[in-house]
Amino acid sequence: MHVKLPYFDMILARLAQGDPDFEEAFRRHVHFGAWEDPDNAYLDRPDSIKAMDRLCLHLIKLADIQDGQDILDVGCGFGGTLATLDEQFSPVRLTGLNIDERQLEVARGRLFPRPGNQLDFVLGDACEMHFPPRSFDRVLAVECIFHFPSRKTFFGHVARVLRPGGNLTLTDFLQPEGAPAAHFDTTDDPLWGSHTAIGLQAYRELGEEVGLVLTHAHDISRHVRPTYHWFGQLLGRHYPEAEAVLKESQLIMDLGGLGYCTLRFDLR
Ligand SMILES: C[S@@+](CC[C@H](N)C(=O)[O-])C[C@H]1O[C@@H](n2cnc3c(N)ncnc32)[C@H](O)[C@@H]1O
Repeated sequence: MHVKLPYFDMILARLAQGDPDFEEAFRRHVHFGAWEDPDNAYLDRPDSIKAMDRLCLHLIKLADIQDGQDILDVGCGFGGTLATLDEQFSPVRLTGLNIDERQLEVARGRLFPRPGNQLDFVLGDACEMHFPPRSFDRVLAVECIFHFPSRKTFFGHVARVLRPGGNLTLTDFLQPEGAPAAHFDTTDDPLWGSHTAIGLQAYRELGEEVGLVLTHAHDISRHVRPTYHWFGQLLGRHYPEAEAVLKESQLIMDLGGLGYCTLRFDLR
């Protein structure tokens, strides 16, 4: 399956070179971290890894995950969220879905579930999920929905595959209310590839259409902001064009153009 993800092309190229900085930085997650004290962030690798772990743990808590559940992690990257779930819960049945076989290959080589837990990786598009109805108690989509061909189609699938009492927990870059539709949509960003953005009200309406009720929305931009600089420094050593895009992306956030948010939707 082909998908344009220039930042993953860069990360995978560095991993293929055996670059120890990239190996360490992306051992688990490839997402924006939640920095505890963003005004005094020390932008080295241990802090950035802690920040990424912090975001992951925060989302697991927000999703109210429990032992005994079936959990789907959509856009699972290298499997960092699944690894954390495997450590924290048992028994659980974990499924990681990703459109990029190269990432799944890395994840398969890194993750071996604890006895009692089950883990499956599935190659596929979040907008063409073939899981049977009511297969999962929780669906997570950590920092990936902006790449999907359609949030509406994805939400339809989530409403179908969730069991009663289930929820969808995700992070996304939201545009402010009143921003023109499709303002940030692009198919050829030199770093992020394809991405689209919508606002909170549009999210609420999307959920309502399929019985997913928005029960949590929180802007954590202030806490993720240091990631732009950290990621820019790391990638910039090899890909100066990436650093330039990251500077521009940070400026957009600083000007209030996009905010990084945690969202939870409960199945009605
Ligand atoms: C920023 S990364 C986040 C990875 C992971 N969730 C994490 O937190 O480390 C975005 C992920 O979305 C995946 N992705 C993009 N489009 C997708 C699609 N249509 N269906 C499934 N996964 C997709 C990418 O391959 C990538 O793994």
